[in-house]
Amino acid sequence: MKLSRPSTQAPDALREIFRSVRTASLDLAAPLSAEDQCIQSMPDASPTKWHLAHTTWFFETVLLQPQASGYRPFDPRFQYLFNSYYEALGPRHPRPQRGLLTRPSVDEVHAYRAHVDAGVERLLDTVDAAAWDTVASVLTLGLHHEQQHQELLLTDILHALSCNPLLPAYRAAGGPALRLATVAPEMHWRAQPGGHLEIGHEGQDFAFDNETPRHRVLLRPYAIADRLVNCGDYAQFIADGGYQRPELWLSDGWAAVQSQGWRAPAYWLAPDDPRLGLAGGAPAAVGWQIFGLHGVRPLAHEAPVSQLSFYEAAAYAEWAGARLPTEFEWEAACADAGMNEMTGHVWQWTRSSYDPYPGFRPLPGVAAEYNGKFMVGQLVLRGGSVATPAGHTRPSYRNFFPPAARWQFSGLRLAKDL
Ligand SMILES: [Fe+2]
Repeated sequence: MKLSRPSTQAPDALREIFRSVRTASLDLAAPLSAEDQCIQSMPDASPTKWHLAHTTWFFETVLLQPQASGYRPFDPRFQYLFNSYYEALGPRHPRPQRGLLTRPSVDEVHAYRAHVDAGVERLLDTVDAAAWDTVASVLTLGLHHEQQHQELLLTDILHALSCNPLLPAYRAAGGPALRLATVAPEMHWRAQPGGHLEIGHEGQDFAFDNETPRHRVLLRPYAIADRLVNCGDYAQFIADGGYQRPELWLSDGWAAVQSQGWRAPAYWLAPDDPRLGLAGGAPAAVGWQIFGLHGVRPLAHEAPVSQLSFYEAAAYAEWAGARLPTEFEWEAACADAGMNEMTGHVWQWTRSSYDPYPGFRPLPGVAAEYNGKFMVGQLVLRGGSVATPAGHTRPSYRNFFPPAARWQFSGLRLAKDL
């Protein structure tokens, strides 16, 4: 699905996209029980039910209340419950306590969604030409926002399920494809000449403010791998003592290895892990097993390694005699033939801090808080993962997480200087 800049969308076209995106969220929650949907396994992860409500709150607060005359909020108390981080919109329920919201129930959240959906449909029925650009802009932003939460819904429930010794599957295999596709195991370097290159979003299609303005950067000649680092590659790093060799690690990363007891990517299970018996995994497993959305599976060597922190990605690159690409090197390589797994597999950590581009201006109004205020202490990831809704990302898309985060579908691709 392609969400374009609003002026190119007629109300009926946008209505169809709205229905599709809203339905997709409910479809993602459908395999989960009410208990599953309430749990919060760590402060960074939110309950499924909260994602369903918060994305609805966004449309209610940012679109309907300012733009739909006569709109009545479903429940004024939800303003406090489901505001995520918008200081301009007042106080809110503390993020680490979202899992304590046993009420409203899942059914009540579904009713909230239906109420707001009806409000949006009415707005689309009645909006006049003078208000259309504003309505379409905010609605489009809300749809991209909801797609971002669709991915978080999956990564957050996977973390919650990983905390259960039974290691239950989010969904049995056979549903919509969630397996990582693979390419041939041989990795090739693609030489890049570098030079002065234009980076950032261009054109009329939708983009977030953090992808703009398009600007020129200078890249030295470099090479970039034509595929992602896969589980087989990463298993060699582990077998070579990667997690026991401080010389491979950034100082903060080595501290995390020590304090967190990291010995493998998140969700990798050693053959003697006692949970394998409870989870119905292979008895007397002979190698690494990996917990994913489909439950416990034997490690597939050719599948891209995932659930890595930036620190682990950087240590692997050091071990491999290479480095991570900058976000600009990654984006420039997108245009080249012969690059594989650039999107739809795992987000790829880059060596770039999440900073504003020269001349960056946040979105107007409340949405000014959407991206800009997070531009400190985080690293940029590029590409898009198996959990990213189809069509949601683009070459200029900038995801970002703190360097220790490892509950996302995050991996890496190597680069080196020429
Ligand atoms: Fe949000």
